[in-house]
Amino acid sequence: MKSSAPGKIILFGEHAVVYGRPALAVPVTQVHADVEVSGSSRTGIWIDAPGIDLHAEVNSIPSDHPVASVIHNLLFISRISPFPSLDIKITSSIPVASGLGSGAAVTVALTRALSSHLNYLMADEEVNSFAYEIEKLHHGTPSGVDNTVVTYAKPVYFVKGQPIETFAVGDPFTIVIGDTGISAPTKESVGDVRKLWESDEAKWEKVFDEVGEIVKQARKAIESGKMKELGALMNQNHLLLQEMTVSSPELDNLISVARKAGALGAKLSGGGRGGNMIALVEKEKAPDISKALLYAGAARTIITTVTTA
Ligand code: MEV
Repeated sequence: MKSSAPGKIILFGEHAVVYGRPALAVPVTQVHADVEVSGSSRTGIWIDAPGIDLHAEVNSIPSDHPVASVIHNLLFISRISPFPSLDIKITSSIPVASGLGSGAAVTVALTRALSSHLNYLMADEEVNSFAYEIEKLHHGTPSGVDNTVVTYAKPVYFVKGQPIETFAVGDPFTIVIGDTGISAPTKESVGDVRKLWESDEAKWEKVFDEVGEIVKQARKAIESGKMKELGALMNQNHLLLQEMTVSSPELDNLISVARKAGALGAKLSGGGRGGNMIALVEKEKAPDISKALLYAGAARTIITTVTTA
């Protein structure tokens, strides 16, 4: 049984989304995690994940390893006994720890491939809430935005704890994603924002409210195809992320290079302090802006078009 799940980017609202404000996120289908599950001639559950150099029987790796925890938890909830012998092949073109949702994509693809192979049917909502439980094991206090956009593979207007809401894209638009090549320490940046919030709740609640307003305006701008306005909103969101201390010199540099090369707006995307920035661009300028980012030190770029699913 095979399953594939896309990468994702957060367009607006990261970090504030952990505090109940909305976020906009979209799938990035140019990169994906792919999982194939088949019956094995060897006894046990054998994982072959060349990208992370993992070739092992599930019980020989720590049970809290992200891949092992999906397998153990799924076998537990599906009550399948005795455990079947399986070969599980995992590949992914999503860069790890870059803010593109690689962990969530592996979890979702593995959950679907494994549950289908076991004839344990899971609706999208079940896959999503299972993936959220797995994200919580590894990331502290995640909002659930990553697993939601990866599970449904559609643009989402996400509010923590609320049913999925998608949004229409008035006019398809182009985003250039630039990777700093530095691992985004999301758990740490989420923890540091929490410390700031704990030290002055009133101040940070206001900042998160401002982000929430930007997200609502951005949704309207996307629905009505107002790209200049959307670009300006990206710049405003980035200023607030800087205030939250989650940007970095490398992200700020790529963002300013993109703006100088003609982007309509740019910001960091995801946990920050590394990982990716995104720039909203006119389609015909995308190759030049991508080149400018690579020249300025981006480890890789992806040009992606956002459309209604
Ligand atoms: C990480 O992709 C997005 C954050 O907002 C954390 C979260 O929502 O769990 C930084």
